Amino acid sequence: MFRSVVTGSGAFLPAKLVTNDDLSKIVDTTDEWIGQRTGIRQRYIAAEDENTSDLALAAARNALAAAGLDGSDIDLIVLATTTPDQTFPATAVRVQNALGMRHGAAFDVQAVCSGFVFALAVANNFLAVGQAKRALVIGAETFSRLLDWTDRGTCVLFGDGAGAVVLEAKSQAEAGGRGILSTHLHSDGAYENILYVDGGPSGTGTVGKVRMNGKEVFRHAVQRLAEIVDETLEANGLVAADIDWLVPHQANQRIIESTARKLQLPMERVVSTIARHGNTSAASIPLALAEAVEDGRIRPGHLVLTEALGGGLTWGSALIRW
Ligand code: UT7
Repeated sequence: MFRSVVTGSGAFLPAKLVTNDDLSKIVDTTDEWIGQRTGIRQRYIAAEDENTSDLALAAARNALAAAGLDGSDIDLIVLATTTPDQTFPATAVRVQNALGMRHGAAFDVQAVCSGFVFALAVANNFLAVGQAKRALVIGAETFSRLLDWTDRGTCVLFGDGAGAVVLEAKSQAEAGGRGILSTHLHSDGAYENILYVDGGPSGTGTVGKVRMNGKEVFRHAVQRLAEIVDETLEANGLVAADIDWLVPHQANQRIIESTARKLQLPMERVVSTIARHGNTSAASIPLALAEAVEDGRIRPGHLVLTEALGGGLTWGSALIRW
């Protein structure tokens, strides 16, 4: 069995910045309401001609540069997205082609806001058994394309962006304790009606818009994320005090603080980007990881816990010795 060691990370945000005040001009909302209820102050929105694959490619290139690799070194791309450029081909193969990677495999994973954790788990399993050597794991979204800009309950929450990590398979000796220690995935389709898109190629033949019962999703998030951090620590024989960084999915600052409280982790050890990025769905965790690596907070050897909950419902976590 091999260890999947993170050897690079990168991110990309579109240029267009939209503040809460900007949104208050198109829906009945205020900076105060959005800030107090969610922690969000602004988000980035992709240009009309900017697709998920464009954001993904830019993030992937940044992650490859950080790892000192190029596309030809990679033999697996797992891309998490809810907003593919087209119904098919997978957005991952567009990234594969643009990177000049002519071998290996590239495919998309769909678990909405939990997508990055699911993609990380899939790639980790490929690397662990020796089926791939170097993987790019990408979370990329143009979630703005799914928003109903007349629904103040959802359109103020989301943003666009992409993040990526490079995983390299190392022997246990070579890894020296670093790498993905465990991943934990869950889903429960009984709750599909509290967070979904009311369209799709088979169902309606339309793209559809996001529909959410925010209060119910909030309730499940607080409960499920508290459970999964326990499950993750227990599986590794660790305690909350061992964690250097909590890098949660960025859906709501109040959900993030609830998980941190559960872990008795001071907020200084929690990476929060929600004020500046909003909820970028599958991109939120790799965006936050890349930022915290770039600014020197996350360093080799640190223990990093990521967790997310999203539509499905899906939820998951990954514990990484950076
Ligand atoms: O990433 C995927 C997972 N998603 C999540 O984790 C989201 C989880 N849910 C949440 O983050 C929160 O439930 C929201 C931020 C979406 C909503 O916050 P809330 O405290 O649960 O508010 P609410 O939906 O219960 O709405 C309270 C009030 C309502 O007015 P009334 O009925 O009390 O008069 C809403 O109509 O706030 C109103 N409201 C707004 N007011 C101003 C809803 N959206 C807005 C808005 N601006 N944008």
